[in-house]
Amino acid sequence: MTTTTKSSAPQQGAYDVRDLKLADEGRRRTEWAEQFMPVLRQIRERFAKERPLKGKKLSACLHVTTETANLAITLKAGGADVALCASNPLSTQDDVAAYLARDHGVRVYAIKGEDNESYYLHIQAAIAHEPDITMDDGADVVGALHMIALERLDDLAPPVRRWVEGLGKTERRRLISKVIGSTEETTTGVIRLRAMAKEGVLQFPVIAVNDSLTKHLFDNRYGTGQSTMDGILRATNLLVAGSTFVVCGYGWCGRGFAMRARGLGATVIVTEIDPLKALEARMDGYLVMPMADAARLGDVFVTVTGNTHVIRVEHMKVMKDGAIIANSGHFNVEIDLDGLAKAAKGPRAVRDFVDEWMLAGKRVFVLGEGRLINLAAAEGHPASVMDMSFANQSLAAEHLVRQGGTLPKAVHRLPVEIDRDVAALKLASMGITIDELTKEQQHYLASWDAGT
Ligand SMILES: NC(=O)c1ccc[n+]([C@@H]2O[C@H](COP(=O)([O-])OP(=O)(O)OC[C@H]3O[C@@H](n4cnc5c(N)ncnc54)[C@H](O)[C@@H]3O)[C@@H](O)[C@H]2O)c1
Repeated sequence: MTTTTKSSAPQQGAYDVRDLKLADEGRRRTEWAEQFMPVLRQIRERFAKERPLKGKKLSACLHVTTETANLAITLKAGGADVALCASNPLSTQDDVAAYLARDHGVRVYAIKGEDNESYYLHIQAAIAHEPDITMDDGADVVGALHMIALERLDDLAPPVRRWVEGLGKTERRRLISKVIGSTEETTTGVIRLRAMAKEGVLQFPVIAVNDSLTKHLFDNRYGTGQSTMDGILRATNLLVAGSTFVVCGYGWCGRGFAMRARGLGATVIVTEIDPLKALEARMDGYLVMPMADAARLGDVFVTVTGNTHVIRVEHMKVMKDGAIIANSGHFNVEIDLDGLAKAAKGPRAVRDFVDEWMLAGKRVFVLGEGRLINLAAAEGHPASVMDMSFANQSLAAEHLVRQGGTLPKAVHRLPVEIDRDVAALKLASMGITIDELTKEQQHYLASWDAGT
């Protein structure tokens, strides 16, 4: 098992990182990522001149990686006072956290391998920053703020609840009323936020950055596709060619991962619950079957559904000896690890990020404790893809400020022009130009009587 790190309550106004001495390495690596983030760099240059986020407090709960560092530096260039906590206990890069805290005055609360208590103490610190804008990857900060607003304190994680219980009613109310809006990075977070909007409990507008085309078409598909494979290979050093991969979920992430597994020579089986996606997977050339059948055939299983208990003990029992199971969906609930712990003997750490369990006389290997494997065992998405995701995040924060609190309390997409601008900037940075509509074509596309 990966060791966890305890941390005392972070001091407000300070930071809680593993070791500031790691900052030089964090700087080197963040600068390396920066060269692959030309769109974000252009936004940063404009932000530095225009300061659209001046005077705003922003609390971000994101994977603390070199790409996120470039986002945080951009938000600071725009004038924001930034607090940053991790959106997953295993995804923090400690050198990056140190660099942001030491050289950029970002209030970073994140330590790789932090235990549950510290994870939530860090979320609490981000909330105690009293943000005007929150930026989530999985809706943890927004979720906690809403539990406070709705006085559902029992639903808060204990460290946050203890802190909130010490606050007066006015202080609690202020935490919510101050927020002009929030942005959300991932599919799972957007699903939660839509559920909140549907129940009529959403307290402020949210921009679903994940829904921008320049986010999910590239980040979820090409980013997750490649980095999930990277995480699995770093953890196992497996030869992909000749093996059978089972990909659970054929959404944006699943499509990307299946494509990469096939590219490296694996036979790919897809499991789905949506007939349209299942049909698409079959037409794309993959085998499609229920998990109960796939479980017997796979060598490596990867969940990317955003759903819970997709791989259960009944499936693990019939897997081949030595089957490898990984998750790249947002939460560590896609594999029934509690069920496994009850039914199996283990875990025995056999390599970094590889736990062996003995189940029904056979070995099952779980990677990265079932947490997103691309961040637990690798470095997350390549910078070039995060360039577009984080360009969207920066522009979403600017959009919220420019709207001046006038957006309805709902889940919004970023305007389509912003999507187009981001795509155009990215193409330009790649040295690619495209055609423009001629006058004749514009007329043709706008008329209903031409062309027959
Ligand atoms: N690892 C990363 O870096 C990363 C990056 C982006 C998104 N994500 C996360 O990955 C997950 C998937 O994201 P997405 O954008 O692909 O979502 P999506 O909605 O496009 O796809 C999810 C797919 O899973 C299918 N599914 C649901 N329940 C299933 C089940 N029981 N068995 C088989 N299939 C099932 C759905 O029908 C859907 O097609 C989310 O949790 C998202 O937050 C992770």
